[in-house]
Amino acid sequence: MSRYMVTSALPYANGPKHLGHLAGAYLPADIYVRYMRMCGHDILFCSGTDEYGVPITIAAEKMGITPMEVVDKFHSVIADDFRRFGISFDNFSRTTRPEHKEFAQSVFLELLKKGHIVPKDMKQLYCSDCRRYLPDRYINGTCPKCGSEDARGDQCESCGTWTEPFELLDPKCGICGAAPETRETRHWFLLLDHFQEWLEGWLGGQSDWKTNVLKYCYSWLGDGLRERAITRDLSWGVPVPLEEAKGKVLYVWFEAVLGYISSTREYFAKAGKDPGEWKKYWQDPDARLVQFIGKDNIVFHCIIEPSILHALGNFSLPWNVPANEYLNISGQKFSTSRGTGIGMGEYLNHFDPDPMRYALAVNAPESRDSDFSWTEYQSRNNELADVLGNFINRTLKFTESKFEGSVPAADPDMVLLNKALETAEEIAALMESFKFKKAICVAMELAREGNRYFDTAKPWKSLKTDPDQCGVTVATCLNLCASLAVIFEPFIPFSTEKIRRMLGLGELKWSDAGTVLLKPGHKLNNAEILFRKLEDGFEKVLDMPEVPVEAQQKEPEKPQVDFEDFMKIEFKIGRILSVEDIKKARKLYKIEVDTGDKVRTVVAGMKKHYTREELQGRLVAVVCNLKPAKLCGVMSHGMLMASDGESGVFLLEPGAGAKPGDTIR
Ligand code: MF3
Ligand code: ZN
Repeated sequence: MSRYMVTSALPYANGPKHLGHLAGAYLPADIYVRYMRMCGHDILFCSGTDEYGVPITIAAEKMGITPMEVVDKFHSVIADDFRRFGISFDNFSRTTRPEHKEFAQSVFLELLKKGHIVPKDMKQLYCSDCRRYLPDRYINGTCPKCGSEDARGDQCESCGTWTEPFELLDPKCGICGAAPETRETRHWFLLLDHFQEWLEGWLGGQSDWKTNVLKYCYSWLGDGLRERAITRDLSWGVPVPLEEAKGKVLYVWFEAVLGYISSTREYFAKAGKDPGEWKKYWQDPDARLVQFIGKDNIVFHCIIEPSILHALGNFSLPWNVPANEYLNISGQKFSTSRGTGIGMGEYLNHFDPDPMRYALAVNAPESRDSDFSWTEYQSRNNELADVLGNFINRTLKFTESKFEGSVPAADPDMVLLNKALETAEEIAALMESFKFKKAICVAMELAREGNRYFDTAKPWKSLKTDPDQCGVTVATCLNLCASLAVIFEPFIPFSTEKIRRMLGLGELKWSDAGTVLLKPGHKLNNAEILFRKLEDGFEKVLDMPEVPVEAQQKEPEKPQVDFEDFMKIEFKIGRILSVEDIKKARKLYKIEVDTGDKVRTVVAGMKKHYTREELQGRLVAVVCNLKPAKLCGVMSHGMLMASDGESGVFLLEPGAGAKPGDTIR
């Protein structure tokens, strides 16, 4: 019996999390942890929200609230959604807790003392329009490694590379789109090259890790590890604990990976526990650290975090990092910041957690990206109902009506129960090698076997012709129901709890599968429906990105947008300062508009509708943060809002008293 420390990536508290997150790092971890607990292992499962860093400040700016308000709001939403999905964390913490700050600062100082962290003067990108430094996601540009144009200053999501703002080709300010300038600043660097050789050796010994994970690691090691800045010029974060670093904070990834330890420490600091016991999970050579993450987190968990832990000296290193690939939705990436995907909470407002847990486990992006669709979800839901639900239901109903709801006095057929035992063993081996997708399919096969057994034995016939044989069939099927309650427990815990309740059983251990749990005379409870089948079109109740069929046939309407998305658009009052014709453009004017903060050039198709004089001096409504676009050779930095209909085109008129720069909402 070993001791296990299991972690799931700390999700950013910048918005509700979606099914892609669930499938990548939380559901697999929960399946594993539930299984291991049933085996009696000493296992602790910790995570929490990642509450610092640029993803949070960007959200705060978009929502017009403070970063603290953002993380307070989304910590509760995220924690609640996980709870409703049955993700059974022992502790779900927050990186804004004071204990985390102290711990992260102490690690920084320790590594500084050991010479793995050094200060250096460097150039940083700065946007003079926005008057701020542009670390991490405040910079967009082209990935130097894979050429994706969607890369950001912290990471390229296409190839997973950890980027520095400086390395991006064609960098642009993430807020206003302007080309940044550079400024001198001082930052502290983690000298990762110190760990290159050690990492090569250590990772070289992890041949049982998933090949996708090792492939990423070797590619970084092959490029050669370089020093990385681990401080930032930001006000939101864990302050760098040095006098000379006033106003600087630790880079979010440096402190976030320590959040797992803080979360464990917090767990044991709670009343009634031994506050030093966290060490048994992090500093004991017998403790195995298993970290569930999505593939974009591999570098941080397989290179950075192990380097830090190794440098600290007395910590255990990851024993395995079963990273998953991505879950796509109808071929598109799930993404909170890009507004695609289905939120966990949104789903739970309409449906039960287990059918989704099952559908996502069967389609887990374990070794390659997988695709989620409602059609697939529907068929998985119906499979639960038709196979597992049906077997449990017909067995219980039959016992209720023909045996007064008690287990018949008969010895169950051990051939079938041995099959359950073998299945449990097969699943155990798969679980221990993180192959949950295969494991759940093997489990469902056993439920199918149950239905075949029931069909072949025909208890409704033998009841009259051979009542003893009928008793054997029913006793066997009931005990198989109990075994199914065991082996499905890690995957669909809400449903197996119901099954156990119907069978009159308490908590079960993994080793109970295939044994005779229900003895003659044992009284059952009333049968309840486990799963409901879904008819076509069931998903219409959701607030969803997929376009319903009727809408496609009618005049297409635009899909609904989230409030969060709407708030991304910056509308302002502007005053038209000047209007010019554009050569060769029959419809367009080049218009200079004062929007308070600055004068912007807007190219607008107003020539047919307004004379230059009519426009001059007018107050207008302006969309300010449209991506700049070139129209007839002139760059346009916004759009004037106008109505457009049979009656003609009319500029929107701000009410009396509105001034340039006022926001519109
Ligand atoms: N917040 C990060 C993300 O969502 C994950 C952080 S994992 C940690 O990608 F280890 F750094 F905490
Ligand atoms: Zn890239």
